[in-house]
Amino acid sequence: MKTVYVLNGPNLNLLGTREPAVYGSATLADVERLCSEACTRHGLALEFRQSNHEGQLVDWIHEAGRRHAAGELAGVVFNAGAYTHTSIALHDAVKGTGVTLIELHISNVHAREAFRHHSYLSPVARAVLCGFGVAGYALAIDGLAAMVPPA
Ligand code: DQA
Repeated sequence: MKTVYVLNGPNLNLLGTREPAVYGSATLADVERLCSEACTRHGLALEFRQSNHEGQLVDWIHEAGRRHAAGELAGVVFNAGAYTHTSIALHDAVKGTGVTLIELHISNVHAREAFRHHSYLSPVARAVLCGFGVAGYALAIDGLAAMVPPA
């Protein structure tokens, strides 16, 4: 059974109370349940994590890269939050590991402030999904499952 890493960056621990008009009322625990159900449907295992720290996210991408190289990983669904728009370190981590990664955003970042329009992750992501609300997490897992030949 292959594993999907769902990694969440800064402030996503505040889901449910943070700007509900933008991000909705679901909590991160609700999102984890959605992901778990999607993985179960596809016969995939789930690693679901959140950190507010850029270096921790870099370390997790490296870990995912090692598991990718070992043939254990379906891929990574990554909502890097604001680090999407600032982090060359995360860009380099994805590029350096060659891990299959879906960039995900709950909101449609292109319909928001100009500083959210640029992503350091998009050039190294296999696919980009935004604007579906938290349902996007399950859609990203569906997409990864469709890319991965059954184990
Ligand atoms: C976000 C969009 C980012 O611009 C923002 O900084 C976030 C959340 C989203 O899921 O829509 O923290 O990644």
